[in-house]
Amino acid sequence: MYSVLLLLSLLRFTFSAAVPAQNGSVACNNSPALCNRSYSNITQLGAHDSAFLRDASTDNSQSGNQLVNTTAQLNAGVRLVTAQIHNNSGSLHLCHTSCDLLDAGLLSTWLGEIKAWMDANPNDVVTVLLVNSDDNTAAQLHQEFVTAGIDKYGFVPSENTQALQTWPTLQSLIAANTRLITFIADLDPSTTEVAGAPYLLDEFTFVFENPFQVTDATNFSCIPDRPAAVAGNIQEAVSSNRLSLVNHFLDLQEALGITVPDIANANLTNANSGPVGNLGAAAADCARQFGKQPNYLLVDFFDQGSAIETVDKINGITPVGRSQPSSLTDTQQSLGTNAGTKDTIVNDLFGSPLGALVLIGIGLQIVMVSL
Ligand SMILES: *[C@@H]1O[C@H](CO)[C@@H](O)[C@H](O)[C@H]1NC(C)=O
Ligand SMILES: *[C@@H]1O[C@H](CO)[C@@H](O)[C@H](O)[C@H]1NC(C)=O
Ligand SMILES: *[C@@H]1O[C@H](CO)[C@@H](O)[C@H](O)[C@H]1NC(C)=O
Ligand SMILES: *[C@@H]1O[C@H](CO)[C@@H](O)[C@H](O)[C@H]1NC(C)=O
Ligand SMILES: *[C@@H]1O[C@H](CO)[C@@H](O)[C@H](O)[C@H]1NC(C)=O
Ligand SMILES: *[C@@H]1O[C@H](CO)[C@@H](O)[C@H](O)[C@H]1NC(C)=O
Ligand SMILES: *[C@@H]1O[C@H](CO)[C@@H](O)[C@H](O)[C@H]1NC(C)=O
Repeated sequence: MYSVLLLLSLLRFTFSAAVPAQNGSVACNNSPALCNRSYSNITQLGAHDSAFLRDASTDNSQSGNQLVNTTAQLNAGVRLVTAQIHNNSGSLHLCHTSCDLLDAGLLSTWLGEIKAWMDANPNDVVTVLLVNSDDNTAAQLHQEFVTAGIDKYGFVPSENTQALQTWPTLQSLIAANTRLITFIADLDPSTTEVAGAPYLLDEFTFVFENPFQVTDATNFSCIPDRPAAVAGNIQEAVSSNRLSLVNHFLDLQEALGITVPDIANANLTNANSGPVGNLGAAAADCARQFGKQPNYLLVDFFDQGSAIETVDKINGITPVGRSQPSSLTDTQQSLGTNAGTKDTIVNDLFGSPLGALVLIGIGLQIVMVSL
């Protein structure tokens, strides 16, 4: 059993470390079949508020949108990560609504985490979407990207004041090493060139989105909400060549108009099928209404439910080179193995005294997570 797992982990290493081949044998974004697909002709899983964690680092903040960090998200197949930028006394921080509520630290630190992942995964294209809450300028934002050393990966489109009719294939983005697509909501496109940051793209020039802040599972909709130019009109949004971003996360309505991410229903919201409001049905519905597959599916608690399976199904791929983000798998990795399902891991672990200790450790972690 362990030799099989060892072999699998070696294979995984081979996939992630290999250089691009001409014959499609190497994976781009977890599949060789995606290499020669246009960036605008694939569906990507997005981790909404990627940096805002509900874990020990935030005392399990109710405002957290994800259970594991950005690195673990990327390892598991997420390729769009989003966050909000706030001006915290002159420094650009990632804060959820306000820095008093949840402060995830410096923007440049988080960008550095993404850069490190991209360095280690040279055959992957990553998209970052930042909400520019305090209207920071292109020059201020650029400085953060430079500090992180990630600006060098930034993709610069031929045209930055209108949506691209044809995006490059993943393979050409990878070959040019312009593997970072950066969207800012909002940023005046006329300011980026002069700031030396033509890779900072105004989100709504290139992307349209359906509504968010949904608090009822029956209320998800594919109708464009932003930008105003295409709001309410699917035909116009699609024919404008904008990429489609489908927000699909549920908030829990609390007293005083406060909403928090609905973690209790996340596994249903992110499911491939099942009760009303599941991601699989929503993605199929939007694909039908758009007349093409949605480009991004943006979810909270991405590892709850089967969000990535929905994405793989739409892309028609069998993925390679991913690792699961659960505490079970973290423990498993520390044992030097790298594959398998939760069920088989638990079965394997029950068979040995070391396994029993590991299970106790996992139990403690689960208790800590639920406090
Ligand atoms: C693909 O190309 C690589 C490197 O040139 C080669 O080693 C491999 O055998 C090729 N695979 C197929 C299926 O042709
Ligand atoms: C990708 O490769 C396949 C098989 O070689 C080919 O049929 C298809 O036209 C290519 N697509 C693009 C976008 O180049
Ligand atoms: C998108 O990719 C699919 C699968 O390779 C292909 O059949 C389709 O023609 C592509 N669409 C466009 C618009 O390139
Ligand atoms: C992300 O989380 C993993 C555990 O899942 C941890 O090992 C790693 O250090 C974290 N990375 C960062 C940059 O916080
Ligand atoms: C950020 O905050 C500092 C001090 O709080 C202020 O001086 C600066 O103008 C702000 N920057 C922006 C872009 O609002
Ligand atoms: C559902 O959507 C409708 C139409 O946008 C809105 O009027 C209603 O308040 C929403 N209901 C809930 C519970 O969010
Ligand atoms: C979803 O998670 C809840 C716990 O939060 C659990 O009770 C329920 O069985 C799960 N449902 C599915 C379909 O996995």
